[in-house]
Amino acid sequence: MLRRLHPVQPDSFEFTPANLEWAKAQLTKYPEGRQQSAIIPVLWRAQEQEGWLSRPAIEYCADLLGLPHIRALEVATFYFMFQLQPVGSVANIQICGTTSCMICGAEDLIDLCKRKIAPSPHTLSADGKFSWEEVECLGACANAPMAQIGKDYYEDLTPEKLEALIDAFSEGKVPLPGPQNGRFASEPASGLTSLKDHGGEGGDLNASAALAREFGETVKRIDGSEAPILTKWLKSDTNAVTEPARASTETVSQAEDIGRRPEGLDAPKDGAADDLKLIKGVGPKLEKLLNSLGFWHFDQIASWGQDELAWVDANLEGFKGRASRDEWVAQAKILAEGGKTEFSTRAEQDDRYDEE
Ligand code: FES
Repeated sequence: MLRRLHPVQPDSFEFTPANLEWAKAQLTKYPEGRQQSAIIPVLWRAQEQEGWLSRPAIEYCADLLGLPHIRALEVATFYFMFQLQPVGSVANIQICGTTSCMICGAEDLIDLCKRKIAPSPHTLSADGKFSWEEVECLGACANAPMAQIGKDYYEDLTPEKLEALIDAFSEGKVPLPGPQNGRFASEPASGLTSLKDHGGEGGDLNASAALAREFGETVKRIDGSEAPILTKWLKSDTNAVTEPARASTETVSQAEDIGRRPEGLDAPKDGAADDLKLIKGVGPKLEKLLNSLGFWHFDQIASWGQDELAWVDANLEGFKGRASRDEWVAQAKILAEGGKTEFSTRAEQDDRYDEE
């Protein structure tokens, strides 16, 4: 899997005061002169604050530790646990796709994510609340199939149960993690035959689920009261968890009702279409898709208002949300006036093709 920095980056990153204090405290755990070893926990905290790691966040963490930026970038781009693109404002759902889970139905869970969240992993749902990805074994094989949502495991899943969990999260609820089939932990499905008293302090819940019940949350960003839950520069207002859930089937069927369809053309003016791939985020597939929707020229895209942008975002099948995420309108305005964007080189285009 290609692991590259996201094409659209915020201007800056800062830890919240509480997180900065926490990060500085981490440095005291290492011997004198070895403080740079704290790069992984410090990057992780940045991800816990924002949901993902932007370039400014990675460089901020490097500066905090006195590391050359490239060393922190190497770490962030190596480990797949670090998210290099925006994740859902409520949760990024990680489906285990390794052997036990696969045999027990992980592929059905992935199909559900494709239908309910987005057709491709690492892509925001239409409402911006969720994203998903397939991950390797999370060590809960006896409770397969399972998913990590936020900081907790949801186990013994079926597509129906996962769908209900997503709906609950979407409504701002905090579903109880752990086995979703009534099991206490990972005992046989037919029940215990010996040592029947588990003796846990959580009563009817195992220790992990009991702790989650005590905290009352599993997906909250660390210091979320200070940090924006969804990165502000995305200009999204979709981080309100009280908004009712919208089932994916409805999302698909209602997509054309969102916003207003911009006026399209049957064919390019004078038979010559603009090279829409000069817009960062648009590769050959998206250009073809735009053409099929009647968009051939920079000035067409430059004229889209908010409603029209919303319609386009909702109708980019397989690439939903890309138009606003990659700021196509702003880029198209520059290109329509004969200017160049910083992404107008062949090398930049080649980079972007890989992302499609
Ligand atoms: S195979 Fe899924 S948790 Fe191990």
